[in-house]
Amino acid sequence: MERMSQSTPSEESTLQAQYEHLKSVIEHHNYRYYVLADPEISDQEFDRLYKELEVFEAEHPELRSPDSPTQRVGEQPIPGFETVPHRVPMLSIGNTYNEGELRAFDSRVHKALGGESPAYVVELKLDGVAMSLHYENGRFQRAITRGDGSQGDDVTQNVRTIRTVPFRLRGDSIPPRLEVRGEVFMRTGELERINELREKAGLEPYRNPRNTTAGTLKQLDSRAVAERRLEIYLYELVLDDESVPTFDTHFDTLKQLQHWGLPVNPHFTRCEDIDAVIGVCEAWQLKRRELDYEIDGMVIKVDSPAQRRKLGNTAKSPRWVIAYKFPADVARTRLCDIKVQVGKSGALTPVAELEPVTLAGTIVKRASLYNFDDLAKKDLRIGDTVEVQKAGEIIPQVLRYVPELRPEGAQALTVPSHCPVCHTEAQQDPDGVFLRCLNMACPAQLKERLEHYAARKAMDIDGLGPAIIEQLVDQELVTNFADLYDLSREQLAGLNRMAKKSAANVHQAIAASKERPLNRLLFGLGIRHVGSRTAEILAEQYGNLDALMLAPRDELVAIHEIGEIVAASIADFFATPENQELVKRLREVGVNFEEPKAQNSDSTGDNAQPLAGMTFVVTGVLDMGSRTEVQDRIKQLGGKCTGSVSKKTDYLLAGGNAGSKRDKAQELGVPILDEAAFCAMIGDTMDDE
Ligand code: IVH
Repeated sequence: MERMSQSTPSEESTLQAQYEHLKSVIEHHNYRYYVLADPEISDQEFDRLYKELEVFEAEHPELRSPDSPTQRVGEQPIPGFETVPHRVPMLSIGNTYNEGELRAFDSRVHKALGGESPAYVVELKLDGVAMSLHYENGRFQRAITRGDGSQGDDVTQNVRTIRTVPFRLRGDSIPPRLEVRGEVFMRTGELERINELREKAGLEPYRNPRNTTAGTLKQLDSRAVAERRLEIYLYELVLDDESVPTFDTHFDTLKQLQHWGLPVNPHFTRCEDIDAVIGVCEAWQLKRRELDYEIDGMVIKVDSPAQRRKLGNTAKSPRWVIAYKFPADVARTRLCDIKVQVGKSGALTPVAELEPVTLAGTIVKRASLYNFDDLAKKDLRIGDTVEVQKAGEIIPQVLRYVPELRPEGAQALTVPSHCPVCHTEAQQDPDGVFLRCLNMACPAQLKERLEHYAARKAMDIDGLGPAIIEQLVDQELVTNFADLYDLSREQLAGLNRMAKKSAANVHQAIAASKERPLNRLLFGLGIRHVGSRTAEILAEQYGNLDALMLAPRDELVAIHEIGEIVAASIADFFATPENQELVKRLREVGVNFEEPKAQNSDSTGDNAQPLAGMTFVVTGVLDMGSRTEVQDRIKQLGGKCTGSVSKKTDYLLAGGNAGSKRDKAQELGVPILDEAAFCAMIGDTMDDE
């Protein structure tokens, strides 16, 4: 700074030139690495250059520009997304499902072109989220979602975090204004990486890459987006103004996009006629599983821009493009049995046991049936032939039974009246669809609870996995959390498949867990509705377990972020004699009940409150829980809930049958979220327990 203020104009321009050079070198290597997957320098060299740029910017903050590779992630969440109109509407495209329909499309095109023969380009139909990118004078300006086709959300801040989106286009003859459209997506490997982390943190895994991509793009904090590796492939150049050069063919346009440094999916093929198109589609139908991202079909486009213009659009979609959708991965198999599983909080869920069948490249033996209501609606019976689908979902679903193949006298599963494991009478949740075993000592629940107790985000007992827990419970060595601390090394070493060394390690890990702070213990206890964030709030508020145990319900409700249901659940937990006994035993074995004093109150990424400062109104019937539960959740995540929609409302969360509140929100222009959008916004942390 000192030096800068005294620098002469020529020094300044040298500095600027140096800065521009450094940025472009890094952008170049980014492009080689991320877009071409063909780096020219080692990771270390790249890191060194990047560091150099960071240092340069720290020394010359006045030069720092938004197009710098260091500026991909915003420092602050944004309050909401601005809705912006599309200059050219983002139309959808028609679908075909078989060869006959593709040929019919080709005939329509021929006819409309007056007998001229079209050539086609066949592309992969990426299963992601459509996005429009705007460049001005070669610089990235804006990213807008498709929205309703005529207007979408400005998600620039989030799209900036996608490494393959160039901040500056390369090469020459770059038009002053450029709009390109494509698909943001997530590779399956990336979803697996995210899900591994989620599972370790005790969170439900995400079901499929598309929804995860959509949810990620809706995050208001681009730091959260940057933690997930989204990608983009561009597939259309929007020809909306004189300044955009028209290339002779779409094929050449895609090549030009690549030359400008924009990521284009490499699998695009030019076909002279519909026979060739069909050949390419069939080939990809077989090969699609080799890709590490999901495609749900192929897109067939007329290659010539002149012919495209001649063909024009219908109200919904252009006449020059059609999708060929792959048949969903559905397999038929026999429903051999329906088992009832017992979850951590005793939820009884039906699970279909299937005759093994190959589906989307994997062998499927089981499928979740979610709950007994769903099972009753589907009217599945043991012995039925059922259709199982894996539509981008990780967990296969049973779609329906095949009526003509139902065997005589096939029996429906009677909704269990008792827990299948401990035989205690099952209870229906008063406010939901779940059937529950309320016996805290139920071995099935105990196993689930012990797994939760030992999880990384809870007491973090390394090595105490499901196989060991199973034996400990079955052999009645452990009947509650406190028993873990009485286990001897010898007892652990006596378990199946347990070497002496591992027994010693687990023993040590159990002992070490006594020292965890109170918030981990509270989370580990598995009190209903007490997730890790609530546990942190309680631990911070009360400082030790004894104080919390004495807290009356009203006092708990008075804590910001704790609602009625959570408070009731905590109070009930500690009022139960079995749980009081458990606490006594945990104290005897020496488990820590204290929360160390916080150093500072900054929220870290882990416990950040995604809804901080936002006001919600919740209305209608919601699948994810009662309205009060959802309001509790919003409060937990830092948001506020009010009863009526006003100008001050940030969002209306509307379930089914939302009535006048929805009208009011529309009238006032308050954004309306459905459940999916809301879950996406909060990073899908809502669970059924
Ligand atoms: S072209 C007007 N090309 O599929 C033509 N779309 O189901 C614009 N999609 O909304 C679309 N891959 O989000 C085109 N190679 C591709 C595509 C593609 C995926 C998506 C796109 C579109 C949707 C229609």
